[in-house]
Amino acid sequence: RSAAPTDLVVFGGTGDLAMRKLLPALLLCEKDGRLAPTTRIVAVSRDGIGDADYRGKAEAAVADSPSVLRAGAVPVPVLRRFLDRLHHVPLDLDDPGDGWDRLRALLDAPPSGDGADPDAAGAPGAPDTADAGGRGRVYYLAMPPMLFGRICADLQANGLAGGGSRVVLEKPLGRDLESARGINDAVGAVFSERRTFRIDHYLGKETVQNLLALRFANMFLEPVWNSRWIDHVQITAAETVGVGTRHGYYDRSGAMRDMVQNHLLQLLCLIAMEPPASFEREAVRDEKVKVLQSLAPLSGEGALRHTARGQYSAGSQGGREVPGYTGEPGADGASSTETFVALEAAVANWRWAGVPFYLRTGKRMARRYSEIVVQFRDVPHPIFPGQGAAATSPNRLVIRLQPEETIRLHMLAKEPGAGELRLRPAPLELSLSDGFAVRSPDAYERLLMDVMNGDPTLFMRRDEVEAAWRWVDPIIGAWQGTDPEPYAPGGTGPRGAHDLLARTGRAWHEGEMTR
Ligand code: BG6
Repeated sequence: RSAAPTDLVVFGGTGDLAMRKLLPALLLCEKDGRLAPTTRIVAVSRDGIGDADYRGKAEAAVADSPSVLRAGAVPVPVLRRFLDRLHHVPLDLDDPGDGWDRLRALLDAPPSGDGADPDAAGAPGAPDTADAGGRGRVYYLAMPPMLFGRICADLQANGLAGGGSRVVLEKPLGRDLESARGINDAVGAVFSERRTFRIDHYLGKETVQNLLALRFANMFLEPVWNSRWIDHVQITAAETVGVGTRHGYYDRSGAMRDMVQNHLLQLLCLIAMEPPASFEREAVRDEKVKVLQSLAPLSGEGALRHTARGQYSAGSQGGREVPGYTGEPGADGASSTETFVALEAAVANWRWAGVPFYLRTGKRMARRYSEIVVQFRDVPHPIFPGQGAAATSPNRLVIRLQPEETIRLHMLAKEPGAGELRLRPAPLELSLSDGFAVRSPDAYERLLMDVMNGDPTLFMRRDEVEAAWRWVDPIIGAWQGTDPEPYAPGGTGPRGAHDLLARTGRAWHEGEMTR
């Protein structure tokens, strides 16, 4: 089904996110016929370029995009149709000149080939609903969060924020609870909560949505999805890349703000949430926020005991010498920003009391993979003799988000043969990429379609974001004055991360599935 006809206005339209993620995702939507014929994509940036130059830049960006390359050749007419949708409006927020007028003029003009009134949903004074029936208008703020409030105010002052227009906010939403509240208030003064879409691209990943299907479309898991049967949960998002050219942003964030506060806590919510009454925007988000509110607070000594922080040092990775974090371009040689976090969280409620949730993320790790491991308890009494390590904690459900999309249930089975009875691990595997003959869309494809269709189910509500900061802030506070532990590139992170599990006799599963 194609999305509603929309004017998608991307602030930061020549930036990294637009070029690397948004344009490739939109091109793939085009290829699948999911953009309405009259949908327009309007990039806004300080660059003084016109449509033709912007289309040239966009063409180069999509040609290099790994997700576009993975999806196979794009027919020339499809690429042309896509590029024709693109426009660029130069606008410097500090010195707008006639930039706002040019943006308004462009949006007011009917798209070519469309007889409909372009302002049916976007005009000032139109009802405050996401779907007023006509063209939708979406402002995607691919900009630093301290500018969100200001852009919204400027949109309003220029008569562009009315009607069914929506705003999409990229993470990070602030750097702590206080700044997040400030941003939410400033945006909320212009766009109602219903019209505000806070994106967390992890929620757009196919396997993440499959996790919801697995839990809530099947019966067999629910009876065992609790502390009686589950020993612990591990959530890992490991990357091989360093911070590269993003130092300016990253050094003020660190792994906790960049990955844990949003992506990893969102995954934790999906694992731990109670079944919602329906797959509807508020029902799902209500259950997620309850999980965040149930997280046992960590602060002071407790925070230090239950977390490990690391920073990658210089070394060799995959046969290549790589700089340490403080030796990256633009780095501050004395930075104590963490590029790795591991922590033990507790969801203090009936279902999960006593079940540790171990979260871990890091850059410059041995392999790139993201997965959730649900480790079941051991059998209460082993009856097969001499099975040694194979029989220890054999049952785990491994939900692999990337690079491959699989859900695997590990168990023990009898080795074939008439001799002595031997057990060996035998996984049951659902391969989501091989098992279905359709391409898995990139996370941004799914989320952009949802925004155009006005569906916020997979977006974060204000209270979710704030609850996540409320839990994260005291941990970051406890780290003040401490230095992250150095770790070698191409490995499994700092010693402290392993100690965190070892003291209860557990260990990280090091992504054994990567093919
Ligand atoms: C982003 C972070 O949100 O997620 C990046 O800012 C990180 O630092 C990226 O590299 C990871 O996303 P993915 O989809 O590659 O796991």
